[in-house]
Amino acid sequence: MYNSTQDTLIIGKKVIYLPTCHSTNDIAAEIVHAGLFEEGTVVITDNQVKGRGQRGTVWNANAGENLTFSIILKPAFLRIQDQFLISQITALGIRAYLGSYVPDTKVKWPNDIYMNNQKAVGVLIENSLQGARYAHSIVGIGVNINQSQFENSYATSLRRETGSSFVLTEEFHKLLKCLDAYYVRLRSGNQHDAIRAEYLRHLYGYQQNVKFLYKGNITSGSVTNVTELGKLRVKLVTEPEELEFGLKEIEWVRD
Ligand code: BTN
Repeated sequence: MYNSTQDTLIIGKKVIYLPTCHSTNDIAAEIVHAGLFEEGTVVITDNQVKGRGQRGTVWNANAGENLTFSIILKPAFLRIQDQFLISQITALGIRAYLGSYVPDTKVKWPNDIYMNNQKAVGVLIENSLQGARYAHSIVGIGVNINQSQFENSYATSLRRETGSSFVLTEEFHKLLKCLDAYYVRLRSGNQHDAIRAEYLRHLYGYQQNVKFLYKGNITSGSVTNVTELGKLRVKLVTEPEELEFGLKEIEWVRD
């Protein structure tokens, strides 16, 4: 059973727990459309049967072993062109939480989290706009906690990386506190540059030689920056100029 928390400012002051549901992002969207929600409301389930991933993929998580939840935000203070900051603070909050257990915890652009070079977290952010402003943002987060077997050879969990098992309700509250702290920083309005710099510091491939799939060929290069709009800037060894990539324009290649 997951309870609301009193030790955050915004995120998790109201927690809606469903023993089972199709997708917490979809439930959060229904709550938003019903019009009655407090910013920071969290929908969490123990058994998500139709979890959605990025680009139409599915997100599978064993029932009762992981954290699968969605946060409803109302970042009306943010300009649309700054929306990548929502991805950045989400990734940084999760990274801070997992980094307290596993030192090698990195953000893989745009907002996956990797522990010891294996994927432990997926994030699906769905924004809806009203004119030039945000109406709301649904931040869906799946964190592999106690699951020990995965179909994907590159997936991992906190348990696999530490050898310990965890109490989900406790981990949920720790994670909410980290996410809340970053959201409060974002809301303060004067932290945008600091957040962007921190994101780069924790970014996989930043100023390091890593492999990419570009135009059908495996090549290598290093990340030089992420633009305000969230594009990845990369200096590939095979290209004379630094290039800028959107989501589907380049792929990471695993070592
Ligand atoms: C990805 O890596 O492809 C993103 C996965 C996002 C999964 C989370 S689990 C909670 C929330 N509800 C969903 O249906 N998806 C997100």
